[in-house]
Amino acid sequence: MTEREQELIRLAEEEVEKNKSVVESDPYRLRFHLMPPVGLLNDPNGFIQWNGTYHLFYQWMPFKTGHGAKYWGHYSSADLITWKHEPIALAPSEWFELNGCYSGSAIEHDGKMVLFYTGNVKDADGNRESYQCMAVSEDGLTFDKKGPVVELPEGYTAHFRDPKVWKKGSHWYMVVGAQCEDLTGKVALLRSADLVEWQHLGAIAGSGEKGLGDFGYMWECPDLFELDGVEVLVVSPQGLKADGMNYQNVYQAGYFIGKLDYGSATFEHGDFVELDRGFEFYAPQTTLDEKGRRLMVGWMGVPEQDEDKHPTIKHKWIHALTLPRELKWIDGKLLQVPAEELTQMRKATLIELSKMELSDDKFQLPLEEKRVFELHLSLGADLSLLEFAIGEAAKLTYDASSNVFSLHRKSFVTGEWEMRSCRLTQLTELQAFVDTSSIEVFLNGGEEVFTARLFPEHDASDAVKVCVSGNGTLMKMNAWDL
Ligand code: FRU
Repeated sequence: MTEREQELIRLAEEEVEKNKSVVESDPYRLRFHLMPPVGLLNDPNGFIQWNGTYHLFYQWMPFKTGHGAKYWGHYSSADLITWKHEPIALAPSEWFELNGCYSGSAIEHDGKMVLFYTGNVKDADGNRESYQCMAVSEDGLTFDKKGPVVELPEGYTAHFRDPKVWKKGSHWYMVVGAQCEDLTGKVALLRSADLVEWQHLGAIAGSGEKGLGDFGYMWECPDLFELDGVEVLVVSPQGLKADGMNYQNVYQAGYFIGKLDYGSATFEHGDFVELDRGFEFYAPQTTLDEKGRRLMVGWMGVPEQDEDKHPTIKHKWIHALTLPRELKWIDGKLLQVPAEELTQMRKATLIELSKMELSDDKFQLPLEEKRVFELHLSLGADLSLLEFAIGEAAKLTYDASSNVFSLHRKSFVTGEWEMRSCRLTQLTELQAFVDTSSIEVFLNGGEEVFTARLFPEHDASDAVKVCVSGNGTLMKMNAWDL
């Protein structure tokens, strides 16, 4: 490790110590989500199960609640539930990464953990350079930087970042989020036989490609993988305009189902589908674990979407990662299911109820003083209306006449109600994970997901009233303390 790297790590550690009490005294500090110890967290990085242990890194700015020269923070876990905060993995110390060790991925090779990430560099005039860099670890804790392995290929601007690497046959492949010189967003594909020499094969998808039309000026954080017989390209495009219920956030995260022809480096694909319908979700990353599951974690935040207004800022931290979700491709649908280990988080049973007729009267659930819980609802085919209120902070509603499901929340910017919606064919099941300042709602076994930050105001007893009302049969309701 260079002296400069040591110094940067020391400064970040000092920042954590100095702010510990102000950060930890925040009532909005989450109980079962990964957060930065201080400062700003954004994308999940380097998600891998290596020698049995899950490693999940994250983009981290320790010195303020805004963006800047990012570090890689590091968590590890044996079970996806209990996470240990590990020493800093990467600090932006070298010439090729001076303005940030930006997003990237991890692979296993010859028993070692190998990271690929973007070295972000800006000169005094703000001109950007980007290098795809490699770092190798023998112990999964300390990383030996090997420097740049990919320079900017021709035809792209320096917005070329977020390498995701995988192996197919005898070769390694890398997708990189990119912008072409004509200012269209793309995904670039590269190939290597040894992880060091990389050949650019071309753009496999992007704005203006494959009949997509105008589809954004930059595509970030691509991920490409096989899932139950199809190939999925996950990407976070920037520059899409809101379109009805779609693309309501400042930037999007979604996927294309398709087929990658490795020989010709072409990817035939279908339409773009948003992964999450909530207010805060971006830059997800997946990994294939030792059980063969495709697990995904996202950033519970969106760049430039009122980041400076988050209520946690006064406690010197901002943002979190989502819960890990398993992806499944079933009957032509991509499902996101909370990782099965999460059932082990359940403590006391708070509600166990079968069959109840919903009515306009708000039925208050016995969840007083529960700021964190998991809830399951199974709904009858006769359901015509559902309203589920979490204090004054959020409401989940479903109207069978339009098949529209919505998550409403009190905006943390204006205090006004705002909503995100999607259309279903029917609502049969609802699973929600409520943390002190977040919610993740999975509908119909993961057909649609809504992720959002919520900042409920608590009364003196710290209670949040949870009520359900509607029209139709609630077949089953279960809730657990988490
Ligand atoms: C996405 C992103 C990436 C970049 C990183 C920098 O949120 O902009 O493209 O690598 O964040 O923190």
